[in-house]
Amino acid sequence: MNLVLMGPPGAGKGTQGEILSKRLGIDTISTGVMLRNAIKEQTEVGKLAEGYINEGKLVPDDVIVAIVKDRLAKPDCEKGFILDGFPRTTAQAEALTASGVKIDKVLSLEVDDDVIVERLSSRRECSKCGAPYSVLFNKPAVEGKCDKCGGELIRRADDNPETIKNRLNVYHEQTEPIKDYYAKAGLLVTASGADKVEDTTKNVLAALGIE
Ligand code: AP5
Repeated sequence: MNLVLMGPPGAGKGTQGEILSKRLGIDTISTGVMLRNAIKEQTEVGKLAEGYINEGKLVPDDVIVAIVKDRLAKPDCEKGFILDGFPRTTAQAEALTASGVKIDKVLSLEVDDDVIVERLSSRRECSKCGAPYSVLFNKPAVEGKCDKCGGELIRRADDNPETIKNRLNVYHEQTEPIKDYYAKAGLLVTASGADKVEDTTKNVLAALGIE
């Protein structure tokens, strides 16, 4: 399956993407993780992206489209993939369509803004592999350590109140309209992401028609 996961910041795209990745045996491609790795390594893309991300703005379309096209051309994507956080603008959605990559479904996780603010304020992530945790809702087995790789859990630079507000505004203005784009193409399905993680997974699997 070639799947796009969309939804507001903190909707649970990363969390559900991990679960689906294991269940379907295909990789998750997260543009947010790729950009944060690029910042860590201080590559050209990382240096360019850092300011945008820290202010909660989107990285320019041409930069992100080039990174994703490159990644989708890798052989492991032939068996399917889960795109998390891309496309995020109409221009990105159009570029993906124009690239000829076939998308089977676009799943939008629906969560209200007030829930998002609580989630992102309590979120932690692994400094090594990027896996998402929460000090309130999704605690690791050992405090401060990643269950998957043992890496240190940290707070993301863009999870502060002002940046969270900006990211939500950007989502509503620039990303939400692409739901219409995919609804017209007959690819959009929605699932509530407001329930507990396990219940959200059930919603997601039902929306995707996976038993
Ligand atoms: P990105 O990394 O994609 O961030 P985001 O979309 O803001 O989403 P998040 O990663 O914050 O949240 P999520 O939906 O994955 O939720 P998670 O599972 O972590 O992008 C970051 C930045 O990079 C952007 O702002 C932009 O600048 C740039 N960028 C990326 N892609 C781009 C693109 N295509 N174009 C341009 N710029 C781009 O969950 C959140 C928290 O809630 C966690 O703590 C988790 O444990 C908890 N949680 C999850 N599910 C539940 C649940 N059901 N109940 C309770 N808690 C839950």
